[in-house]
Amino acid sequence: MKININGNIVGPEEATISVFDRGFLFGDSIYEVTLTYDGVLYKIDEHLDRLWESASRLDMPISISRKQLTYQMLKTLKALNETRAYIRVVITRGEGEIGLDPSLAVKNNLVIITKKLPENPTWWYDSGVEMIVASVLRNPKESMDPAIKSGNYLNNVLAYSQAKKQGAFDAIMLNADGMVTEGTTNNIWIVKDGKLKTPPLAAGLLSGITRKIVLELAFDNKIPAAEENFTPEELKDADECFLTSSTKELVPITKIDGISIGSGRPGELTKRLHQIYRQHVKDYINRQRGVQDEILGDKS
Ligand code: PDD
Repeated sequence: MKININGNIVGPEEATISVFDRGFLFGDSIYEVTLTYDGVLYKIDEHLDRLWESASRLDMPISISRKQLTYQMLKTLKALNETRAYIRVVITRGEGEIGLDPSLAVKNNLVIITKKLPENPTWWYDSGVEMIVASVLRNPKESMDPAIKSGNYLNNVLAYSQAKKQGAFDAIMLNADGMVTEGTTNNIWIVKDGKLKTPPLAAGLLSGITRKIVLELAFDNKIPAAEENFTPEELKDADECFLTSSTKELVPITKIDGISIGSGRPGELTKRLHQIYRQHVKDYINRQRGVQDEILGDKS
């Protein structure tokens, strides 16, 4: 593991942060997670766009420039020296006197955690995973909006714990209207009668980067797709179901609350879309490699 704390790259034992940090005290922080393929950082611009969007929605000034942050991320990955790496960027509002007033913090703390990312288990893709529908609801948009990728994941932690207690892979969360929103760290999709559906952002969920890419790839490949609300009953009655996230890509969901989805095996459209997605990843990495090498060479 290599961890970057405000520009200094250290090992995990030395990676410490103040107990007065507002991320620690209040979850007053934002974060992004992505990965590298073959040493190249995946969808860096999209993740930084979302990071800045989260900051703006929380009125959190970011003291580092996008260019400098990109450089710090690449520098940390270089120190890690792994071809397949996990990278988590955390920016907190900073430290100060204990109190809710955000102006008590003077300057952000920046933490970049990098570690080797093992390949995902092949059984996820070959057999599919089992999910539950959690009784814990996703936060309403009017509250801590799920579109903001903040350090406040306790709601999702509670939902995930429910899944774990039932021996499931993860939990799907509903909103207060009883509609499906997303998994605890992934977006949810169904296929019904050849049509792909994922809940709209208005349902209250994170605008996943993988979600956006899959919608675009479906469009490019003339696969009917829509952002539409659906109920847990429709979810369980789907022909196919899968989840998406940067690190997991597309994972088939073959059981929900003990009910088999479709044939109970990973669906054909899910598998096809995953292949299309993998090709998209390859093309992106080939285009980006030179660009990222250049950024590392240019320290300005
Ligand atoms: N999670 N929904 C939630 C609540 C998430 O936390 C994530 C990402 C996603 C998928 O977003 P993307 O496709 O941009 O990875 C959806 C990351 C992986 C995490 O917390 O580790």
